[in-house]
Amino acid sequence: MKPIDVGLLGIGTVGSGTWDVLRRNASEIERRAGRGIRISMVADKDTKKALGIVKKQARVVADGFALVRDKNIDIVVELVGGYTVAKDLVLEAIRNGKHVVTANKALLATHGNEIFKAAQKKGVMVAFEASVAGGIPIIKALREGLAANRIEWIAGIINGTSNFILSEMRDKGASFGDALRNAQRHGYAEADPTFDIEGVDAAHKLTILSALAFGIPMQFPKAYTEGVSQLTQDDIRYAEQLGYRIKLLGITKRTAKGIELRVHPTLIPTKRLIANVEGVMNAILVKGDAVGPTMYYGAGAGSQPTASAVVADLVDITRLITSDPEHRVPHLAFQPDRLARDPILPIGEVETSYYLRMLVKDQPGVLADVTRILADSRISIGAMVQKEPAAGQSRVDIVMLTHKAIEKNVNAAMAQIEKLTTVLGKVTRIRLEELL
Ligand code: HSE
Repeated sequence: MKPIDVGLLGIGTVGSGTWDVLRRNASEIERRAGRGIRISMVADKDTKKALGIVKKQARVVADGFALVRDKNIDIVVELVGGYTVAKDLVLEAIRNGKHVVTANKALLATHGNEIFKAAQKKGVMVAFEASVAGGIPIIKALREGLAANRIEWIAGIINGTSNFILSEMRDKGASFGDALRNAQRHGYAEADPTFDIEGVDAAHKLTILSALAFGIPMQFPKAYTEGVSQLTQDDIRYAEQLGYRIKLLGITKRTAKGIELRVHPTLIPTKRLIANVEGVMNAILVKGDAVGPTMYYGAGAGSQPTASAVVADLVDITRLITSDPEHRVPHLAFQPDRLARDPILPIGEVETSYYLRMLVKDQPGVLADVTRILADSRISIGAMVQKEPAAGQSRVDIVMLTHKAIEKNVNAAMAQIEKLTTVLGKVTRIRLEELL
């Protein structure tokens, strides 16, 4: 049978990895897919660079639209990134009856509903394993492996750059800036690194996971997003002393009131496996009602790990290309006409535990005032540490861990605590999850 012809949009880090993996493992991949899979056309603005990689083994053009309209191409791999040109290219590929593979989490989280609708109408597949957690087959696990389950929650380390920064800050006392520069040097960070450090990249990925887990549309604008840029060495150290580690987690949870969709630094018990995921590695915990907690671990970024997911999608599409569209795995795991309407909860309605740190004057009654405010707001304290004041100092840090509370009640209590004349500055609040 004629090999499947793939057109590659963009031959940067992931594109060149895809080129390498497809060629290196060509015969193994053909045995798996039942047909050869070859990249026969590449579109990249930098045609010289592209030619340097593909030599004369594929046609190279500068214009992506020429590629998505080319009659010889069966599958388009979109590795352009961003929302604008990438969106136009993907929609044009679909209009031209091409199947699409994309690693573009930002595009899917923001325009996925429109893209899947167009694909559905045209009867083509849009595969996106590489969009979340690089090489970890988490999309496959959620859509297929866990299909028996009612998913209860997902909690994941899904931004390698932030995790790398937190590891470096904790282990080496590195500054935030040095750690970020180091991650950028390794090619892990997004083109705009604020997406990594402010939690946006993780929220894009979490939006996709949440849709697949609960059978809901993509709702990125409703995700709560907070990154690692405000974390201090003090908080990292205090958390360790209390038996917790701070990780940037993406958490999505089904509750009686609606669905939680939130990315923020989180204290998690040091003894949990996921607390020990270091550097740029990713890990995702999925709790299903039948299977219980399951964890998926691996490289979340990088050339060949991400190419691993792209090529797996190419194999999947090659196997399914002749099947009826209605017999394929639905894009969002559930049948498109059966998506649920559960609301996404605003962050104020979320219920979790909290780490609170405040700097107070070391004098009688301060603690009593703080704990009274918490008690009046029905917030119960689970643990508390007061540090010895440094020599000659009359100010001291108090750290408290609360039991579960509704976030808006915690916010109201924090505002009252900050008004006490004995409390200096703002209260630092970090959410805490036991992940049981
Ligand atoms: N910037 C991302 C990360 C890369 O740091 O995890 C892969 O999405």
